[in-house]
Amino acid sequence: MLKYIEMDYKLPDLTCARKRTREDVNRRVFNIEEKLLSIGKDKYYLIKTHGCQANERDSENIAGLLEKIGYTKTLDESKADIVIINTCAIREGAEDKVFGELGALKRYKTLNPNMIIGICGCMAQEERTVKTILDKYKQVNLIFGTHNINDLPRLISNIYEENRKSIEVYSIEGEVIEDIPSVRTSSHKASVNIMYGCNKFCAYCIVPYTRGKERSRLLEDVVKEVEELVNNGYKEVTLLGQNVNAYGKDLDADYDFSDLLEAVAKTNIKRIRFMTSHPWDFNDKMIEVIKNNSNIMPYIHLPLQSGSDNVLKVMNRRYTSQTYKELFDKLKTNLPNFAFTTDIIVAFPGESEEDFNKTLEMVDYCKYDNAFTFIFSPREGTPAYNMENLIPQEEKNRRLSVLNEKVSYYANLNNKKYQDKIVEVLVDGPSKKNPNIYSGYIPEGKLVNFKGKCNVGDIVKVKITEALSFSLNGEQVE
Ligand code: SAH
Ligand code: SF4
Ligand code: F3S
Repeated sequence: MLKYIEMDYKLPDLTCARKRTREDVNRRVFNIEEKLLSIGKDKYYLIKTHGCQANERDSENIAGLLEKIGYTKTLDESKADIVIINTCAIREGAEDKVFGELGALKRYKTLNPNMIIGICGCMAQEERTVKTILDKYKQVNLIFGTHNINDLPRLISNIYEENRKSIEVYSIEGEVIEDIPSVRTSSHKASVNIMYGCNKFCAYCIVPYTRGKERSRLLEDVVKEVEELVNNGYKEVTLLGQNVNAYGKDLDADYDFSDLLEAVAKTNIKRIRFMTSHPWDFNDKMIEVIKNNSNIMPYIHLPLQSGSDNVLKVMNRRYTSQTYKELFDKLKTNLPNFAFTTDIIVAFPGESEEDFNKTLEMVDYCKYDNAFTFIFSPREGTPAYNMENLIPQEEKNRRLSVLNEKVSYYANLNNKKYQDKIVEVLVDGPSKKNPNIYSGYIPEGKLVNFKGKCNVGDIVKVKITEALSFSLNGEQVE
């Protein structure tokens, strides 16, 4: 690696990324040097985003920063002066897509040698990935990580001024930087970060290494952001964190997630969602607040990962099938009309047929409205990477398809309850193919396609005429 160090590159380091200290989180407000403000004048940018909502939100900040320094958005690669791929490292498949895109971009760089090709996001936080990019994808001349998005103007300026690559990734616990410029992709729904990072270290997961330690934004900053969104006509906010139930624990403050939820519910926002709740610290006060505020949507995503205690233990998930069930029962009793979804991993190293069957039993028990199901993908640097007793590919596929069949069965069963019912849909827009067909989501988080006449951002009443497994069809009635 020495040659890269000599070139003044800052490279990621998984050993540093693993560290957690009790040191205070550095909090600051974004600022930018005057001289950077016009470096993108008359130039075009394009951003490609992979991964979760945290990445989508980061891309809105990247767009905000690029527009701040003069760039204009384009969707045309041949016109772009800078293309940034915001990557996800959660599974191997997500990474393969990015390498494919990089290959395809090479052609445009040949036509426009001044084009900047940038990589950021979670893959940029991985040691081996960055090395592979530097060795094999020489067209990439900008790499930055999840901790220094705010530095993008300076990193671009280095490329223009010094005619060199800008490679800067920090494997640190992370800061909280307020007021980074942002261009939101939607004018009626918004994601609002309430915390960054993760301290859970589930054995399979790369996120704690790519995103740093759990660090919460201050309650007043979150509420201020939601109030601004309300003033700008937004109808829905999704409060984002890898584990929202841990909100506030890192702060020297007397509030937690339930207080934050309540404060957000008191604004005039019509719909509040939150992602993701870890079953570990979902407490009674949160359930109470959710129950008592009608603008908190009747939908909870509660990742299970596995129904087997043996597997849960090796995964380091900190709950058992029994405690998960107890929490699930409590939620169902207190929030009877809520929709529940989950995440499940199959073929974790050592998962026996019996373990897998326990996962199926749990799906039968919880009858989820939907589940996001994945085959275990080994991530370098995580404890599960070197685990033995791998499951043969054919068996992995079999387990995934058996599970998916069960998930669809319950998804369909749950959706059937909506047949002929009138529901409220927040309209996302008309379909690309047919301008008379609109789509949007109901409070329970289900997608509805319907015939009607309305505007993006309206909340309209729709009668459900057909219930499919993963969406509903209907007609607008009001
Ligand atoms: N913080 C969230 C999850 C974020 S990642 C939580 O704890 O619920 C989203 C999902 O990806 C996880 O819930 C898990 O099901 C899946 N996932 C994460 N790492 C994975 C891996 N190495 N292989 C397969 N699936 C994985
Ligand atoms: Fe990953 Fe577990 Fe953290 Fe979720 S809670 S981001 S699965 S380590
Ligand atoms: Fe992917 Fe990083 Fe999100 S790994 S799922 S983009 S936190």
